[in-house]
Amino acid sequence: MTGSPDADHRDLRLWWKSAVLYCLDIETFLDSDGDGVGDIAGLAERIDYLTELGVTCLWLMPFYPTTERDDGYDITDYYGVDPRLGSHGDLVEMIRHAKDRGLRIIVDLVVNHTSDKHPWFKSARASKDSPYRDFYIWRDTEPPDTSDKVIFPDEETSLWTFDERTGEWYLHNFYSEQPDLNIANPAVQAEVARIIGFWLELGIDGFRVDAVPYLIDAAGADEELAAQYGDPHDYLRALRKFTSRRRGDAILLGEVNLTYDAQMPFFGDAEGDELTMMFDFELMQRLYLALARRDVNPMVDTLRRRPKLNATNQFANFVRNHDELTLDKLSDDERQEVFDAFGPDPDMQLFGRGLRRRLPPMLNGDPRIIKMVYSLMFSLPGTPVLFYGEEIGMGENLAVPGRLAVRTPMQWTAGRNGGFSPAKPSRLTAPLTTGPYGPAHVNVQDQRSDPDSLLAFISLLARRYRECPEVGMGDCEVLDSGSPAVFAHRCTWNQFGGGVASSVLVHNLAPEPVEVTLALADLAPGTEVIDLFSDLSLEVGERGRLLVPVDGYGHLWLRILLPGDRRLR
Ligand code: NOJ
Repeated sequence: MTGSPDADHRDLRLWWKSAVLYCLDIETFLDSDGDGVGDIAGLAERIDYLTELGVTCLWLMPFYPTTERDDGYDITDYYGVDPRLGSHGDLVEMIRHAKDRGLRIIVDLVVNHTSDKHPWFKSARASKDSPYRDFYIWRDTEPPDTSDKVIFPDEETSLWTFDERTGEWYLHNFYSEQPDLNIANPAVQAEVARIIGFWLELGIDGFRVDAVPYLIDAAGADEELAAQYGDPHDYLRALRKFTSRRRGDAILLGEVNLTYDAQMPFFGDAEGDELTMMFDFELMQRLYLALARRDVNPMVDTLRRRPKLNATNQFANFVRNHDELTLDKLSDDERQEVFDAFGPDPDMQLFGRGLRRRLPPMLNGDPRIIKMVYSLMFSLPGTPVLFYGEEIGMGENLAVPGRLAVRTPMQWTAGRNGGFSPAKPSRLTAPLTTGPYGPAHVNVQDQRSDPDSLLAFISLLARRYRECPEVGMGDCEVLDSGSPAVFAHRCTWNQFGGGVASSVLVHNLAPEPVEVTLALADLAPGTEVIDLFSDLSLEVGERGRLLVPVDGYGHLWLRILLPGDRRLR
């Protein structure tokens, strides 16, 4: 059909395919009332900061009532707000303010499990006759050894915990205080739909869906229910359908830490009708390996085998999230290389598979490398996701246990408690980072007035990313740079409203400057190419050859000035 905006997917402006996502925990962002805990009113005060930074969508980590066993990922009421953070009233005001500034919001949907203090589980464990008993998964015989499957090996030894009261074991993929919900039970599915419906009604734009492979897996469920449930992907498809029916452009951004092949069914394969987006764990891990080796091949191989997605789907790129920086997809030797380069001390490592450090300390604070890595992350085909504090180069606090080392309070000023809270330091919800990455040296206020700061750079990156929709929405081709340390790729997109947008993105993972020759066969000699981060301007030579000078740890976003591209320089 011609004339329909859907006739050509390439012409669809899907907001999540050119968004800049920013993940934060309200509890550690800004404390407005001086009790030592960040709150919703504090976040509302910083909405303008976030929009100025160039963020277009917030991902709010769990802010629901919780027993704080897993930093909010153990929920006791899906419809509530943790009273330490504020009220529903505060939340709605904050959402309204964010909308007014054009900011979208997605929230964590954590329905693989509840807290063991959730009223459903309290009732379920009280008696086998509880109406909530089948909300969870029980077994009455001794479970097999599952010690090799536990996700938090420092604290758990089995996926099953014996419950004295009713003499049965319940399933928990995560901590034992996080019993798994029985998703095969239609009553549980109805609750999940109600939760989604509730938050959509409050104006949110979608969900970051926690632990999706575990969530949709019905293993352990009663045989009859499991048979009725059928293919878990039918359920995921139904969940997406329900979400879209309630709100057409709401997204499901899934946490699915699997290989590409295994991830594809979670997108709904070519149909693209399950999760809208997924984090690219494969590429993130190969990026670190490439950095450790100063050799782009691990990334080149990964991007070349990255599957082509349905035009409505998207990968989310990141170099840090709130968990351990997992390196579980690397071989033991490769992981050891990354450990040796970026976290040699056992205290910097976690669960034998990841790092509990933030990027700048891993790179010894070298601003050239840090900027190059963020430029690379923003330039990769997909949607970039920042974890709060990355924009100013915050570090970790290794004195804080486990994954919490990277969840220290946001550093706003060099003043008391880094401007996070006026409370006594002993009352803070989490300790601040200290030393060279502490607030005295790394904070928003100082960087706001410094045009060379990381903050200024990330803000410029966000702008460039938005100005280059080909990066988020176009087709990507990895180019042969001829240099092991130089990663070059080209993104091309048929622009909304006509014309083709195309750019070549070049990143040098090594300190030595180098000149590379790229083959851009389709370009006529004389085609002008301009760098969006400097005043460099180049011309395509004979047979589409482009000679590009790249600084040590340099980065270039080369816009190809094709006829009909009316974008401002
Ligand atoms: C994944 C989350 O990212 C992590 O922080 C959490 O502990 C587990 N899911 C359990 O909810």
